[in-house]
Amino acid sequence: MAKMEVKTSLLDDMIGVGDMVLLEPLNEDSFINNLKKRFDHNEVYTYIGSVVISINPYSSLPIYTPEKVEEYRNRNFYELSPHIFALSDEAYRSLRDQDKDQCILITGESGAGKTEASKLVMSYVAAVCGKGAEVNQVKEQLLQSNPVLEAFGNAKTVRNDNSSRFGKYMDIEFDFKGDPLGGVISNYLLEKSRVVKQPRGERNFHIFYQILSGASEDFLCKLKLERDFSRYNYLGLDSAKVNGVDDAANFRTVRNAMQIVGFMDHETQSVFEVVAAVLKLGNIEFKPESRVNGLDESKIKDKNEVKEICELTGIDQSVLERAFSFRTVEAKQEKVSTTLNVAQAYYARDALAKNLYSRLFSWLVTRINESIKAQTKVRKKVMGVLDIYGFEIFENADNSFEQFIINYCNEKLQQIFIELTLKEEQEEYIREGIEWTHIEYFNNAIICDLIENNQTGILAMLDEECLRPGTVTDETFLEKLNQVCATHQHFESRMSKCSRFLNDTSLPHSCFRIQHYAGKVMYQVEGFVDKNNDLLYRDLSQAMWKASHPLIKALFPEGNPAKINLKRPPTAGSQFKASVATLMKNLQTKNPNYIRCIKPNDKKAAHIFNDALVCHQIRYLGLLENVRVRRAGYAFRQAYEPCLERYKMLCKQTWPHWRGPARDGVEVLFNELEIPEEEFSFGRSKIFIRNPRTLFKLEDLRKQRLEDLATLIEKIYRGWKCRTRFLLMKKSQIVIASWYRRYSQQKKYQKIKSSAVIVQSYIRGWKARRLLWELKHQKRCNEAATIIAAYWHGTQVRREYRKFFRANAGRKIYEFTLQRLMQKYFLEMKNKMPSLSPIDKNWPARPYLFLDSTHKELKRIFHLWRCKKYRDQFTDQQKLIYEEKLEASELFKDKKALYPASVGQPFQGAYLEISKNPKYKKLQDAVDEKIIIAEVVNKINRANGKATSRIFLLTKNNVLLADQKSGNIKSEVPLGDVTKVSMSSQNDGFFAVHLKEGSEAAGKGDFLLSSDHLIEMATKLYRTTLSQTKQKLNIEISDEFLVQFRQDKVCVKFIQGSQKNGNIPTCKRKNNRLLEVAVP
Ligand SMILES: Nc1ncnc2c1ncn2[C@@H]1O[C@H](COP(=O)(O)OP(=O)(O)O)[C@@H](O)[C@H]1O
Ligand SMILES: [Mg+2]
Repeated sequence: MAKMEVKTSLLDDMIGVGDMVLLEPLNEDSFINNLKKRFDHNEVYTYIGSVVISINPYSSLPIYTPEKVEEYRNRNFYELSPHIFALSDEAYRSLRDQDKDQCILITGESGAGKTEASKLVMSYVAAVCGKGAEVNQVKEQLLQSNPVLEAFGNAKTVRNDNSSRFGKYMDIEFDFKGDPLGGVISNYLLEKSRVVKQPRGERNFHIFYQILSGASEDFLCKLKLERDFSRYNYLGLDSAKVNGVDDAANFRTVRNAMQIVGFMDHETQSVFEVVAAVLKLGNIEFKPESRVNGLDESKIKDKNEVKEICELTGIDQSVLERAFSFRTVEAKQEKVSTTLNVAQAYYARDALAKNLYSRLFSWLVTRINESIKAQTKVRKKVMGVLDIYGFEIFENADNSFEQFIINYCNEKLQQIFIELTLKEEQEEYIREGIEWTHIEYFNNAIICDLIENNQTGILAMLDEECLRPGTVTDETFLEKLNQVCATHQHFESRMSKCSRFLNDTSLPHSCFRIQHYAGKVMYQVEGFVDKNNDLLYRDLSQAMWKASHPLIKALFPEGNPAKINLKRPPTAGSQFKASVATLMKNLQTKNPNYIRCIKPNDKKAAHIFNDALVCHQIRYLGLLENVRVRRAGYAFRQAYEPCLERYKMLCKQTWPHWRGPARDGVEVLFNELEIPEEEFSFGRSKIFIRNPRTLFKLEDLRKQRLEDLATLIEKIYRGWKCRTRFLLMKKSQIVIASWYRRYSQQKKYQKIKSSAVIVQSYIRGWKARRLLWELKHQKRCNEAATIIAAYWHGTQVRREYRKFFRANAGRKIYEFTLQRLMQKYFLEMKNKMPSLSPIDKNWPARPYLFLDSTHKELKRIFHLWRCKKYRDQFTDQQKLIYEEKLEASELFKDKKALYPASVGQPFQGAYLEISKNPKYKKLQDAVDEKIIIAEVVNKINRANGKATSRIFLLTKNNVLLADQKSGNIKSEVPLGDVTKVSMSSQNDGFFAVHLKEGSEAAGKGDFLLSSDHLIEMATKLYRTTLSQTKQKLNIEISDEFLVQFRQDKVCVKFIQGSQKNGNIPTCKRKNNRLLEVAVP
């Protein structure tokens, strides 16, 4: 199983010592060795009490993960191994819980990791403070302000690839819950000289390279820039590319960050336009030109660049050109214009570029502040993070005004460090009531005074010199220094009155040296006056103000002629002094937390620890002093409770529990351990241990004792466990037994109880049934008596009241009414009777609903009656005709389309009066029977479908066909030989008479005829056949039937719709099997 590690103190698993205060022996070597040992194990953080020493690892260590953040969150400072997160957590928690404003002071030389440390602090605080959409936006804006400021304010230097060239102090504001509300950034003195010139191996500010590498072609074109670095005089070329830095990607990061921080698109655009203008200013070149009056004058070599700048910024080209060639001095309402020579013109150009850039930078800070400032007016708690340029010493005499200012700032920080640490330390002793003797330490107040004293300070004298009328040079300034500061202990100069340095050849004549707290620095006096003056010719600021570019105009408010101010602007030195003073005042109101950064080597390389370099930094940061001051009092202190808790096992009286005040417990403990009395002191709430050795002794004893205790605990635990188990089993046995007994008694009791209940229920049942029977009997007796009484009463009452009954009156009235109504109904009907015509559909409406069926019945009877009446009128002959018509209707109605036309025609039978025509005398003679039909028909010729007229005769027994002209009989067929008559369903008169096969008449085949009285003929044929042969003649109605012509069977087919021959049906032989009849 993995061993679980729970660290409860930074003393556990320590590499070297985590807190330098515990270092023994304490000297420079052991100090450095301890740092080195820890550095080799990737432990880059070490404490001096509550101060964190951070050594730049120059490699990314896995110690800033979210898990680490969780580990350090809400833990005590000394509980875990030293870490920047521990300090951040401590600061954040005392801000949130104890309402103390905090500041985090990060110092160290360039490249030591200050900026990284400040970012780590901010990201830790962001990770542990409140959450929520609004809070996250605030956090994001605060964090994203970094990339923007770094792009514009950082540059690659020989010491650091991402060196901050400005000082930055950021106040993060929180509400009472500890949620971030916003922030305020202050910036200090941007190193603007870098814009126009960079030392060897260094670069200009990142943003220039980022634009040229990262911007799209389109965007570059808008800014009138070219991608090639070498096109620009202001860009140092020897190190334009930095290893491991992707300028193009960073450009995107910066633009993105600007967007998050809240820059509008047009603002971003303006910013880049200004940057482009600065870059292009560097390309303006001048050439000398002599004028007649002998004065030197300069002229712009190539006006194209100026033209483009003017287009970019919206400045009138002539105005700008003039500002580069003339200088106007105004004094007491007098204006004097002088021409600029080439050197002056270059000076003016560079001054403009520097001013433009540094003002842009300040504008950016103001703009960011506008975005990130807290939106509410509630009371805020503040955490300040100071990341300021570190102490800088260049070798030889390369230190200039900038280094002087930077080092002054560091001097002030050291001062505040001394003041606050010592004050805090001393105050603690006083608070705790510990006897305290003042500790001597080097106080750098005297150096601060040398620089900032209002009368005799170097800055004051520089200002004086700058303001003095007459010729002022760097040399006159140095002379002045030599006079005033000569006797100052920390000032050194060849020319001072103090003869100490007269022969010091290491000190050039044009230099002075200051013995800073961090070492001696030799300053080259050249450029001091100029840089302090920070002069920008008024013509240029006025030209800038005239720009139509709103941002540039806003950057040069003094160019407005309406606001002309003849007073000199404050010098750079005095401005800086004032802002540093404000900063110091601000810091003093806050609880300080120190991070002292150390650079392990000059190569920006991981795992290299240069002893000499570190030693130098330790010396000037005063770290040993720091440890000594802390140890001069007491090396270690701890509140009584945790101390007793940690060491109580070392003494019988306090182990395992001490009842009483913790302080007494610690006293007993220390007496028991025979710790010499001078080794410790009792404060009001803390024990103070003078020597780390004592603490280590305690720790060793604790370790040993812990092992013994572990064995003891194991022993006791095992005994306890066995006994507990035994006791538990015993207890369980009793419990089980008692439960069982209870259970068996319960069972027994329940049995007796249920028996009793059964017996009881039987007895109760029997009693209840008896009672029920008695009650029922009684009830029946009562009911019987009541019924008898009721009947008896009824009889009596009826007998008495019979005479009064009118029981039948209702019925009689009803019947009478009904009779009356019927009578009325019939009488009315008599008057309303319809006509006697059987086809009259009229019938009066029914008067009463109850007569509905009667009324219908009456209608039916009446109709039957009038039909009978109608029929009775007929004579026998008429009856016959109607019978025939009826027969026709039964045979053809709804079967043949011809039928309806025949209904109205009377059936005459003998259309042709043979007897009266002498032509047919022979025919008449041949037929001696009664003629039923005599009519002319068309006989269809089987060969071609043509028709021939024939006389058709039907007698009682025969069908005859005779020639129309001669009256000769052509065929005679007995009715018994006619088997079938076929016809179509259509409106035509064709019909076929089929003959019995094998009969005499069948020799010539069937007849296909057509007649105008087909319905009558077919009906009569049917009736006659039926009466003579008692057989029903088969009448087939079909649009296609077969006719037997001699040997062939021919199909007769009726086709409807032909209009060929008007309305007459026509017959046509199609082939020898088909005869087609077209019916219109
Ligand atoms: N904690 C750290 N972990 C890893 N690398 C670091 C750390 N601190 C600093 N560095 C490296 O050192 C370089 C310089 O650090 P920086 O903070 O810019 O120095 P300073 O601000 O003190 O001049 C960084 O760019 C980074 O590469
Ligand atoms: Mg930095």
